[in-house]
Amino acid sequence: MSLLAGKVALVTGAGHGIGRGHALELAKHGAKVVVNDLGGTVNGEGRGRDADVVVDLIRARGGEAIADYGDVGDEGDAQAMIQRAIAEFGQLDIVVNNAGIVRDRVVWKMTPDDFDLVMRVHVRGTWLLSHFAALHWRERAAAGERLSARIINTTSGAGLLGNFGQSNYAAAKAAIAGMTLTLSLELAKIGVTVNCIAPAGNTRITATLGSEAPRVREADEYAPDEYHPMDPSISSPVVAWLASDEAAYVNGQVIRAVGEDLQVLQPWSPASSICGGGKRWDASTLGLRFGRELYRSQARGVVIG
Ligand SMILES: NC(=O)c1ccc[n+]([C@@H]2O[C@H](COP(=O)([O-])OP(=O)(O)OC[C@H]3O[C@@H](n4cnc5c(N)ncnc54)[C@H](O)[C@@H]3O)[C@@H](O)[C@H]2O)c1
Repeated sequence: MSLLAGKVALVTGAGHGIGRGHALELAKHGAKVVVNDLGGTVNGEGRGRDADVVVDLIRARGGEAIADYGDVGDEGDAQAMIQRAIAEFGQLDIVVNNAGIVRDRVVWKMTPDDFDLVMRVHVRGTWLLSHFAALHWRERAAAGERLSARIINTTSGAGLLGNFGQSNYAAAKAAIAGMTLTLSLELAKIGVTVNCIAPAGNTRITATLGSEAPRVREADEYAPDEYHPMDPSISSPVVAWLASDEAAYVNGQVIRAVGEDLQVLQPWSPASSICGGGKRWDASTLGLRFGRELYRSQARGVVIG
């Protein structure tokens, strides 16, 4: 039996790039897929029917899929996406929060609108989909069903380590990692796991970073057995496995899936510590201990400034 037979998945931002790879992979393993995409530009302007091509690809390969053109940051659209899955396929089991935009600028050039729109799509969008999916799952659990449902979120190296020119995007992606930890605690008792991947791939988003934009090859333009570290679908098998019943024991994890490497990341944890011995810190003497005992050991190899 296929890994995801009988499952219904919703992938946001699945018209292009990494999300397209996820939608194709989930369908390949037997899931019925709602392919959501607003169809705007990489900066979040306009809208279109970009989801259609992915639905056509899935159907041509013998799978089942429907398109959704909603905006993940819009409350009504987010609720409608969940309802569309239930109306069309009877239920929803897997939400992959992948939709994203960038509006990169160094902080003194970034506008409040650049900040707000990036937060809206990544953070509000991830939260809205999780909220409406959780309502659906809670109802099913209350009716006595034993669930095996999944939320898979998308963070990024920028959110985990920082990246020049991305104060809005880094804040949004760090928020998604933090949200994952809390949602995983809240939903575990009704049979829903919540994990987060940090993927990479040559996509419209990475094309905005270099001075010369590479031509973006979509996931379906790679041969099925081709290995390319920046294939946008390189992390998609990880998402498909996390979405399966086999992965029920994996919860609250941030998993970096870049090229051939797969890593479970540690949450924030102390790299070094000192103890005040039951007294308040004294700012005039703290510097000595901070530099000698606390910071030097942990700052090795880190260049600041
Ligand atoms: N490409 C990378 O190397 C990389 C690295 C780390 C994280 N990511 C993350 O992966 C995800 C996918 O990005 P990508 O690189 O494939 O870019 P992409 O532009 O190819 O895909 C993003 C998709 O999201 C859609 N989208 C944007 N706003 C939306 C909205 N409001 N509602 C619904 N859909 C919307 C876009 O139309 C687009 O199809 C993003 O969350 C991104 O932050 C990408």
